[in-house]
Amino acid sequence: MLLCTVNVILLMPFFSRELDALFPVCNHPQRLVIKRSCCEFLRIILVESIPLYMKYDDNATFGTPVDKAWRDLLSMATNQVDVASFYWTLTGDDINMNSSTDLPGKDILEQLGALPSRNVSVRVVTSIPSMLTNSTDLQVLRQKGVQVRKVHFGRLTGGVLHSKFWIVDRRHIFLGSANMDWRALTQVKELGVVIYNCSSLAEDLQKIFESYWVMGHFNSSIPDPWPSKYDTAINKEHPLLLKADNVSSKIYITGSPPSFCPTSRTQDLNAILSVISGAQHFIDVAVMEYFPTTRFIHPQRYWPAIDDALKRAAFERNVKVRLLVSCGRDSDPAMLPFLQSLASLNYPAHNISIQVKLSIVPVGNQSEIPYSRVNHNKYMVTDRVAYIGTSNWSADYFNTTAGVGLVVSQHTPNWPWGTQALQGQLRAVFDRDWHSQFTVCFADLGHHPDCALSKG
Ligand SMILES: *[C@@H]1O[C@H](CO)[C@@H](O)[C@H](O)[C@H]1NC(C)=O
Ligand SMILES: *[C@@H]1O[C@H](CO)[C@@H](O)[C@H](O)[C@H]1NC(C)=O
Ligand SMILES: *[C@@H]1O[C@H](CO)[C@@H](O)[C@H](O)[C@H]1NC(C)=O
Ligand SMILES: *[C@@H]1O[C@H](CO)[C@@H](O)[C@H](O)[C@H]1NC(C)=O
Ligand SMILES: *[C@@H]1O[C@H](CO)[C@@H](O)[C@H](O)[C@H]1NC(C)=O
Ligand SMILES: *[C@@H]1O[C@H](CO)[C@@H](O)[C@H](O)[C@H]1NC(C)=O
Ligand SMILES: *[C@@H]1O[C@H](CO)[C@@H](O)[C@H](O)[C@H]1NC(C)=O
Ligand SMILES: *[C@@H]1O[C@H](CO)[C@@H](O)[C@H](O)[C@H]1NC(C)=O
Ligand SMILES: *[C@@H]1O[C@H](CO)[C@@H](O)[C@H](O)[C@H]1NC(C)=O
Ligand SMILES: *[C@@H]1O[C@H](CO)[C@@H](O)[C@H](O)[C@H]1NC(C)=O
Ligand SMILES: *[C@@H]1O[C@H](CO)[C@@H](O)[C@H](O)[C@H]1NC(C)=O
Repeated sequence: MLLCTVNVILLMPFFSRELDALFPVCNHPQRLVIKRSCCEFLRIILVESIPLYMKYDDNATFGTPVDKAWRDLLSMATNQVDVASFYWTLTGDDINMNSSTDLPGKDILEQLGALPSRNVSVRVVTSIPSMLTNSTDLQVLRQKGVQVRKVHFGRLTGGVLHSKFWIVDRRHIFLGSANMDWRALTQVKELGVVIYNCSSLAEDLQKIFESYWVMGHFNSSIPDPWPSKYDTAINKEHPLLLKADNVSSKIYITGSPPSFCPTSRTQDLNAILSVISGAQHFIDVAVMEYFPTTRFIHPQRYWPAIDDALKRAAFERNVKVRLLVSCGRDSDPAMLPFLQSLASLNYPAHNISIQVKLSIVPVGNQSEIPYSRVNHNKYMVTDRVAYIGTSNWSADYFNTTAGVGLVVSQHTPNWPWGTQALQGQLRAVFDRDWHSQFTVCFADLGHHPDCALSKG
């Protein structure tokens, strides 16, 4: 466990390696000074996009809008903004759409483009292969002085760069399900987190960004092992220990694919499995897609790593499992039997509780907009941990695809429910959605025009 509240000046560089392993070092290039409380002004906020015309009960509460959080981050940037996104479509024109609901996206594009003239250096990494678009966003940004690299994950790992995160001034971060897409601000349900004023964590995420950046060189190849500057002192075994909202919190950032993780970096899948196996009372999962198989490599393989862990938790430890999976017009009906398989274990009389529901965003009069009106969230909350990630839950996302996750475990005298602690907020979001009119049990699904699983 990493302590962040010591005040030590190391006089003997000889010991600095050992101490690096014990304490994260803030801001000091020589790594000799360990500052009192790395993240004294730390603030963690949950951020969400709720699609337009998705009307919840009046008493429902929400995270800060992603749109607002992004604008705030851009306005506070003074030095450097680094952005990783699978693809870029911040304007309607990018996908040949005429919709005024792209205004927030256009605004973000404009503000990002204005940063270089304020002497803020902006770097962007994105994926090859990527979504098919007619996007001009990156040309526009390049002309304004933004540095762009496309990382050929297809060639490097056979996957894509699917991470979505920002690092601002090596101090603040955004991480979550939202791509740099106008639809992620008004048409797709998204969830993420913004952490302000924590340079130890931002610099840790910076290492992942740099690994993408360097692989964005023409003809790059993945080093094995990665040079030591990509190592991290913050992982599952040594989380960063901080106070967030006056609650003691242990935090670390995970990565995938394995070929991009030095041994010191906790792999995303290992974190997910350990969060599941550490739960004692409940596990609530919200993911866009859930497949205990590979999706993109053929022949498809069965891959029960997460499925087994969930079933084991329910069966062996009587942990109550709830799974909220997204269903939209583009969902693959092949997912249904796997969800039914999980749900069919549910046997309350024997204390086995696995409930599965589908989350459906009403399409309404927005049907013209492709790849929208869907719940894109990827998170999990247990009695001990909040996990927010960027990956669908299927094999490829943990084997070949680049993704990141944030694991936060918080300790209060009682449970953190009802407090501002991230864990409590995330549980409240899950409960809000679980009991909302936008969530359907299989039994009640019938024919639903907005959910492809209902036809299969
Ligand atoms: C970050 O910390 C500074 C003090 O160093 C404080 O003024 C500022 O409000 C904090 N930012 C946020 C977003 O909490
Ligand atoms: C919110 O209001 C609905 C009825 O409109 C009610 O069923 C629900 O229990 C309320 N939720 C909370 C958290 O108060
Ligand atoms: C790109 O533009 C062409 C020509 O207008 C159009 O046919 C095509 O559908 C567009 N592609 C996308 C992904 O929007
Ligand atoms: C886009 O839609 C608006 C109103 O919905 C209309 O006034 C405008 O002419 C349209 N633009 C194009 C290029 O189709
Ligand atoms: C940007 O930096 C240059 C060179 O350091 C300086 O001359 C200029 O005034 C700066 N511009 C702004 C908007 O800060
Ligand atoms: C690309 O890399 C390969 C293998 O590392 C090397 O053989 C080849 O010469 C490189 N091509 C160029 C144009 O640098
Ligand atoms: C923070 O927690 C400590 C003890 O855990 C308590 O004494 C203090 O009043 C709390 N501060 C705030 C601002 O809630
Ligand atoms: C279920 O749990 C309750 C309370 O822990 C216990 O009394 C009961 O025996 C359990 N039932 C079975 C079938 O294990
Ligand atoms: C779409 O429907 C919403 C209400 O559900 C309405 O407020 C909005 O004006 C409609 N938009 C269009 C373009 O018809
Ligand atoms: C997750 O899966 C869906 C369906 O295959 C796909 O459209 C989406 O791009 C995947 N990744 C994301 C963005 O979560
Ligand atoms: C993971 O990727 C490797 C190649 O990188 C492949 O050989 C293996 O079959 C993949 N495993 C799964 C479960 O997809």
